[in-house]
Amino acid sequence: MRIGILGAGNMADALGTHWARAGHELMVSGRDAAKAATLAERLGPAARAGTWAEAAGFGETVLLAVRAEAVPDVLAAAGAADGALRGRVLIDCTNSVVPGKFVLATEGGPSMARRVAEIAVGARVVKAFNLCHEDVWRMTPPVFDGERLAVPLCGDDPGALATVRSLVEDLGCAAVEGGGLDRAGLLEATMAFMVGLWFRGADARAVLPPARYAFGDPAATAR
Ligand SMILES: NC(=O)c1ccc[n+]([C@@H]2O[C@H](COP(=O)([O-])OP(=O)(O)OC[C@H]3O[C@@H](n4cnc5c(N)ncnc54)[C@H](OP(=O)(O)O)[C@@H]3O)[C@@H](O)[C@H]2O)c1
Repeated sequence: MRIGILGAGNMADALGTHWARAGHELMVSGRDAAKAATLAERLGPAARAGTWAEAAGFGETVLLAVRAEAVPDVLAAAGAADGALRGRVLIDCTNSVVPGKFVLATEGGPSMARRVAEIAVGARVVKAFNLCHEDVWRMTPPVFDGERLAVPLCGDDPGALATVRSLVEDLGCAAVEGGGLDRAGLLEATMAFMVGLWFRGADARAVLPPARYAFGDPAATAR
């Protein structure tokens, strides 16, 4: 498929590398045209660089991979408020965290995904890829203890979710349905909490029981 990428930084590089290898056509964009061109060259012959608006127009699917504070300006430059992304799958991987505090800068207001959906009229927004560090996404594949990394998706459009599910599988990961876009804020908060644990040296993976013990273990219950 044709994938437009808004952003020429780490996430654009990490995800774009997998998708180029999987045979998708890519257009990368950034505020620094030379940086976008360098990334496109590194991604290979299936990738080229363009402006924000060109990348938005190019992609049947568009990845939004810019810093949270740049989202309104970048979406405006892409023409999102004028319908440039109408009908397109728009993947929002952004996180809005107060530096060093592991709390959301969006606290008390709409999630990043909601803000994106409000600006990008008619886009089919899916929240994905926000939980893990870029170097996890660069792994080929991200498999831990023999199990593919599970990637939760939040979105309202079944077709868009199916598209993102296939892009998740291109990374060697397994998609998990996380519910509608109204749950994307939970995914954003989960990221902040989990990253806070990792930075304190705790194993975020260990804080929850395996699914079969989600409601305890009748054979080993203290009464
Ligand atoms: N990196 C991770 O591990 C990770 C993991 C999950 C989610 N995320 C989220 O994914 C998004 C992208 O992260 P990233 O690591 O790829 O960031 P990044 O490496 O800093 O790249 C972000 C892109 O946004 C551009 N940008 C920054 N400020 C801008 C502005 N004011 N106006 C226009 N463009 C601007 C950057 O341009 P320049 O290159 O010119 O600065 C670059 O193209 C962020 O929202 C982040 O929270 C990151």
